[in-house]
Amino acid sequence: MAAHRPVFLGIWGVFVLALIQESKPVVWEEWWTYDGISGPAFWGLINPEWSLCNKGRRQSPVNLEPQRLLFDPNLQTLHVDKHKIGGVLTNTGHSVVFTVDNDTRQPVNISGGPLSYRYQFHEIHLHYGLDDKHGSEHTVDGYSFPAEIQIFGFNSHLYNNFSDALHRAQGIVAVSLLLQVGDLSNPELRVFTEHLDKITYGGQSMPIKRFGVKELLPETTHYMTYDGSTTMPACHETTTWIIFNKPIYITKQQLKGLRELKQGDKRHPKAPLGNNFRLPQPLHHRPVRTNIDFSTDANKGPKNCPTMNRDIYYKAGSKGVIITEKTE
Ligand SMILES: *[C@@H]1O[C@H](CO)[C@@H](O)[C@H](O)[C@H]1NC(C)=O
Ligand SMILES: *[C@@H]1O[C@H](CO)[C@@H](O)[C@H](O)[C@H]1NC(C)=O
Ligand SMILES: *[C@@H]1O[C@H](CO)[C@@H](O)[C@H](O)[C@H]1NC(C)=O
Repeated sequence: MAAHRPVFLGIWGVFVLALIQESKPVVWEEWWTYDGISGPAFWGLINPEWSLCNKGRRQSPVNLEPQRLLFDPNLQTLHVDKHKIGGVLTNTGHSVVFTVDNDTRQPVNISGGPLSYRYQFHEIHLHYGLDDKHGSEHTVDGYSFPAEIQIFGFNSHLYNNFSDALHRAQGIVAVSLLLQVGDLSNPELRVFTEHLDKITYGGQSMPIKRFGVKELLPETTHYMTYDGSTTMPACHETTTWIIFNKPIYITKQQLKGLRELKQGDKRHPKAPLGNNFRLPQPLHHRPVRTNIDFSTDANKGPKNCPTMNRDIYYKAGSKGVIITEKTE
């Protein structure tokens, strides 16, 4: 694409400049942003190892279209171990990330749901908007939530660690929670938000002694699932996504605290951290399956949930896939 060429060269120009200015080596992993010439549209161009970000056809996030969901009666309830675990909360400049201590004796396992393997909880990423109108990466029927929490695990049946599993078949699970503004926060979310002043600047981190990932989950067994990618470079298409059908809640104050974080370090604070989301990617005929049986569960759940309300739906049955009309 000839139109991209000047921009492509421009990026290299900036990159070379960065090399000259910084005596320490540039870390590829950090050299991308959510806007401008190193933003999502260019991720696949600025590093050959990230080409899937532009060429891939099984990318994430996606817009979840209720009328296209496929009810799959084989889907199990997702299992997440209950016990709490220690880790570190970091402002990476791209996101707020919780990473499980690498010497954990008793890992928190994630299994069941659509998963054929056992996964080991490794990391949580927070995506949020600088205002309430957007922030989530996944959208539901075009609707953006003010934030999204993504819980990552690696396939511990097949692989040794997260970084290895990232580019391996069936390597990663990502459990996604959509966040809605409410008067009362999810209690476990407060563990992250009560000390945000300690990670104001990019690169800062703080230890967290006990975090219960299970307690972060909404009270529902219903979810949607599809095969996709990580939503940051290198966009590896190794991720099984599981998106719960009910939001968890975050307060206005907590969102304000998140929006006060900075991308850069103390001397170069740069822009506020936020609006760190990639836009929905084309599904390219991938199925999005659900364990919500609309024939029995229609219309349940409070307002502002990702709603599954619709007039026509598809249902898998013994006679194949049939189209059913909902009767009120
Ligand atoms: C855990 O991480 C620390 C700091 O990054 C590192 O020094 C240590 O070797 C790691 N331990 C294991 C068991 O990987
Ligand atoms: C979690 O998985 C590990 C292997 O990765 C296993 O040793 C451990 O027993 C599992 N924990 C529980 C609570 O089942
Ligand atoms: C992850 O596992 C791979 C393959 O076993 C190994 O080569 C690599 O050193 C491991 N990385 C870390 C950070 O432990």
